[in-house]
Amino acid sequence: MPSALIDLRSDTVTEPTEQMREAIATAPVGDDGYGEDPTVNELEATFARLVGTEAAMLVPSGVMANQIALRTLTAPGDVVLVGERQHVVLYEMGAAGINAGVQLGLLEDGRGIVEADDVVAARAAAAHHQPAPTALFLEVSHMASGGTVPTIEALAAVRAAGTGLRLHIDGARLLNASVATGIEPSRLVEGADSVMTCLSKGLCCPVGSMFAGSLELVAQARVERKRLGGAMRQAGIIAAAGLVALDTMVERLADDHRRARTIASAVGERWPSVAPSLEAQITNLVVFEHDDTAALLDHLSRDGIAAGTLAPGIVRFVTHRGIDEHAVERIIESIRRAP
Ligand SMILES: Cc1ncc(COP(=O)(O)O)c(C=O)c1O
Repeated sequence: MPSALIDLRSDTVTEPTEQMREAIATAPVGDDGYGEDPTVNELEATFARLVGTEAAMLVPSGVMANQIALRTLTAPGDVVLVGERQHVVLYEMGAAGINAGVQLGLLEDGRGIVEADDVVAARAAAAHHQPAPTALFLEVSHMASGGTVPTIEALAAVRAAGTGLRLHIDGARLLNASVATGIEPSRLVEGADSVMTCLSKGLCCPVGSMFAGSLELVAQARVERKRLGGAMRQAGIIAAAGLVALDTMVERLADDHRRARTIASAVGERWPSVAPSLEAQITNLVVFEHDDTAALLDHLSRDGIAAGTLAPGIVRFVTHRGIDEHAVERIIESIRRAP
């Protein structure tokens, strides 16, 4: 019998746990349009406490949460400073232009966060007939650089350089960042006007992301969610899985991180010239360059391993609950023979 597919394409391939399925089946629900779904209300309050904001809101997806951030924190024509490889720039199908009419001011983010000096320089351009940026979007962990997590000092420096700008943190994998560093989620997002986190990635929920901020901002966000077609009714069946996720699935992310690091070591041994930095390899994404990604993915696929690319010449492996120790052994063995 062929062994099961090892799916390294994304942590979004995770499926709800038995406990989530039971919680979904028995969740008390109501019409969230009237604020009457007790399970949604509980999840929103729980998440707001976790990230240290006044309020939070359940949304169908991380992309929608990022788009809501753009629509609540900016006005059409604004310039948003953002790392050039962030999700909102590369992987949201140009939605920022459609949904918010903003111009993205791209800053270099190869080390996993924009540089404070670049934020200062971009703002100084306003003295030279260029539009003044009004917002700053950061990503923690930073997906395209291999799930790296900026230090608290780097975050503080960028925040200081962006004083006066509205700040959104795309924390699709904020809890990975928190578990990997031991730093509370609320500290990682300190000073942000809004925060988003996905429940549907390493936390294994079938659907859902959270958008958090002040009471006033989340009230505006509810309007924008409706405008984007994302308001839901008996969404307690989604929120129920989210509550189980926050309760039972956070600590185990450390296993994913440890396994990603083992895989990154094998990548480094096989291709020393593109070895991912093991110092920065603290969460669940392994990203590296390869000069024939098609041949590599084909080789892996013949070994029953699915992986993906982030850009031409850039391979990504993502660990998650479906990647156990046995899978890691098979991955390493395949990497050793890979082209
Ligand atoms: C950093 C980052 N932000 C946002 C998203 C979007 O989340 P979703 O797929 O729930 O729309 C993703 C998803 O892969 C992501 O990796």
